[in-house]
Amino acid sequence: MNKTIETAFNDHLNAELFSSYLYLSMANYFAAENLEGMAQWMRIQVEEERIHALKFLDFINERGGRVTLGQIDQPKLKWQNALNVFEEAYAHECMISGKINDLLDVAREQSDHAAAAFLQWFISEQVEEEATALAIVGKLKLVGDHSMGLLMMDQQLAQRVPSAPDPAAQ
Ligand code: FEO
Repeated sequence: MNKTIETAFNDHLNAELFSSYLYLSMANYFAAENLEGMAQWMRIQVEEERIHALKFLDFINERGGRVTLGQIDQPKLKWQNALNVFEEAYAHECMISGKINDLLDVAREQSDHAAAAFLQWFISEQVEEEATALAIVGKLKLVGDHSMGLLMMDQQLAQRVPSAPDPAAQ
């Protein structure tokens, strides 16, 4: 495997594992705030990020590279309110999108077409991830300080179900 790609993909594997850890911390914050629906929504996000990390891990292995598992930073533990959590989740997704774009630039510079093809799935996925978080931010802004609206949002987010397995990953 191209060493530049191997290093960049290992770094990104760590970023996806951190995403999972960050969302687990957000889930715990919601559990402590008695917002079980939002906690449930975040727990599903924890699993999605773990799957993203495993996709990178599998790709590195399949290409004959070496996976290097590094230290995962401690995530933030407290937020001001639900809106603050989802604003930070949205900002985090935008940051991850930037990293994916940078990875694609590196793959193209290195003429690694397999890596570039692999990253296309993530480019589309990030559009969805950003849109989902942004829609929740928008609704929470409408809710404002109204407890009833917050409880309704909590019930709505409790409806989230895990994504169907990706057939391409089977
Ligand atoms: Fe793995 Fe939410 O990006």
